[in-house]
Amino acid sequence: MTTIRAVRGMKDILPPESHRWQWVETQAREVFALYGYREMRLPLLERTELFARSIGVDTDIVAKEMYTFLDRHGDSVTLRPEATAQVVRAFLENHLEKGAGVKKFFLIGPMFRYERPQKGRYRQFHQINCEALGSDAPELDAEVILMLWDLLKRLELRNIQLLINSLGCPECQVDFKARLKIFLFSREGWCPDCRRRREVNPMRVLDCKSQTCKELLKDAPVLKDSLCQTCNRHYSQVLGLLTRFGVDFQEQPRLVRGLDYYTRTAFEVTAPQLGAQDAVAGGGRYNGLVRELGGPDLPGLGFAIGEDRLMEVLPAEVGRGGDQRIFLAALGLAAREKGLALLQELRSAGLAAEMDFDDRSLKAQMSLADRLGAKWVIILGERELAAGEAVVRDMATGSQQPVPLKELKTQISHKVSAKEGN
Ligand code: HAM
Repeated sequence: MTTIRAVRGMKDILPPESHRWQWVETQAREVFALYGYREMRLPLLERTELFARSIGVDTDIVAKEMYTFLDRHGDSVTLRPEATAQVVRAFLENHLEKGAGVKKFFLIGPMFRYERPQKGRYRQFHQINCEALGSDAPELDAEVILMLWDLLKRLELRNIQLLINSLGCPECQVDFKARLKIFLFSREGWCPDCRRRREVNPMRVLDCKSQTCKELLKDAPVLKDSLCQTCNRHYSQVLGLLTRFGVDFQEQPRLVRGLDYYTRTAFEVTAPQLGAQDAVAGGGRYNGLVRELGGPDLPGLGFAIGEDRLMEVLPAEVGRGGDQRIFLAALGLAAREKGLALLQELRSAGLAAEMDFDDRSLKAQMSLADRLGAKWVIILGERELAAGEAVVRDMATGSQQPVPLKELKTQISHKVSAKEGN
């Protein structure tokens, strides 16, 4: 019989790699806590209209990439392609907008987009997502970016770039769209999608992936020239704060992002070593989104880190974890029984310990311990048992010493803390 394979574009995250994922998420949780963000855990399925209304019907995500289906009741539901819309949905549904102050949330989990799978692009991928709702202050833009930067620095990422732009407010965008439309109609050769988009949603042309369109866009107008005075000031203040706090950024006047809800600050973090899919994180302001989803006129901004891509650029030595594992090699039935009790004692002291129950030779158990990456092996045979002791072997140095069973827990704990202290 043939074995069953995972669905195309979806992958298993297995040990020891899964340990690095856990480590990254722990770092993220610690950094977010410092900035006052709290976790939301939301359903993977949402009503389809949530994404159509927020991300925009002309975006690639909504037009081509959503996992949408009818449930058994006949309702149209969609596996979330991103988290911002659903964070806002949950925020409004649970009346979290009440009270003063900026409301800050993070969400970690899988997203789904039916894209053509390739390196760095999956159909199920994972995001670390942050959203701050309730203020339009440029300090908040700077703080959100600083938080992202803090996290990426903690993860020791190298060769990353922060690209930034301002997409202006709806008024700036009216002016920009008009200028862009004139440009788009003055050239020929656009792909069929862009020929339609230049009529209904010209800004989406700027995000087209077709090589010909990208080429044609080189002379397109830039948003910066359409910014109103207030948006201009907001943008300069954000850039000024980033400079003051030592964040190295690069202005990218053609950055528009692939979702319709953005206003003002928009940014991406890229890692050129990733090749074609080089965006590790993306985000920005969405001052009209809460209202668009039926809520009050509340500004917001946030970002999402693509965790799968992040793992690709995480330095190899980072997040591996110094597992201080202990293996107990028992020889004979009586030693096995005593061994099990000793393991429970070690575990109760917070020490990771395991043994094999299959009556293998000492040699076989030693090579098993080696394969498991054990730092210490406790050898317990009939002779040791009779003497009330065990032999403790340090796998790194090969040195062995007898230890009375009564002192095993304390002595091993000391050895572990001594290694951790190194
Ligand atoms: P996005 O740019 O669509 O933004 O996605 C953010 C990140 O998710 C990308 O930079 C990339 O690293 C990762 N990503 C996206 N699609 C894939 C894929 N198919 N395979 C692997 N990784 C992928 C958003 O989703 C916005 N909701 C971000 C945001 C939050 N804006 C404001 N708040």
